[in-house]
Amino acid sequence: MYKIFDTQDEVSRYTAERLAARIEAKPDAVLGLATGGTMEPVYARLVERLQQGPVDASRLTTFNLDEYVGLAPTHTQSYRHFMGQHLFDRLGLPGEKVHLPDGMAEDRDAACRAYSESIRALGGLDLQLLGIGTNGHIGFNEPHTRFSRRTHVTPLSAQTRRDNGRFFRDPSEVPTHAMTLGIRDILEAREIVLVATGAKKARIMAELYHSDPDEALPASALKQHPNVTIVLDREAAALLPG
Ligand code: PGA
Repeated sequence: MYKIFDTQDEVSRYTAERLAARIEAKPDAVLGLATGGTMEPVYARLVERLQQGPVDASRLTTFNLDEYVGLAPTHTQSYRHFMGQHLFDRLGLPGEKVHLPDGMAEDRDAACRAYSESIRALGGLDLQLLGIGTNGHIGFNEPHTRFSRRTHVTPLSAQTRRDNGRFFRDPSEVPTHAMTLGIRDILEAREIVLVATGAKKARIMAELYHSDPDEALPASALKQHPNVTIVLDREAAALLPG
């Protein structure tokens, strides 16, 4: 299902409302969360929304999609830091209830296995929030990642490192690898909300619209899932058929 709004602000408000509704319906929900520029206004609206109403977020459990390999949680560009700044600290979520892949783990294979297993042990994700890369990645599942993979370490594509260079002092500082939830884990979520805003996402959203499930376009895996909402602003939807 597509939901298309005029502005990024409307997209962010709608997405925040979807998350808030899930939390209200199930205060101990297990949420899959995403980072990236698209999510900053989503989390800002969610914090506002949860602070307005009598919503108790303290029983939530969260699992983020991905983390850079080799960046400590205190590094300002780590996704742990992003989540603290934009959501966790602002909602006062208890540290033991929020999870990100451990990009500093010595035994990365064991850390990957444990990450997927801890989601399953809690009964799976109630809702997975996703952004999308200009190359069609979801999480850091880059093009040609097998749809059957669970959490794993992946090299980042040149395109992704270029796109994310804007967050670093110098683009060469973007880590070469990340740990990401796999597409198999993502598809096990009961509900998925993918958000894309801005003209730079228009081309990939049109490709996704026309694509069958194809490992060359990771987000096309979502076509195998029964409950996906794709939330776009006019700019990101510009190349979809009228
Ligand atoms: P962005 O990243 O929100 O910064 O565009 C999205 C993504 O790469 O998944």
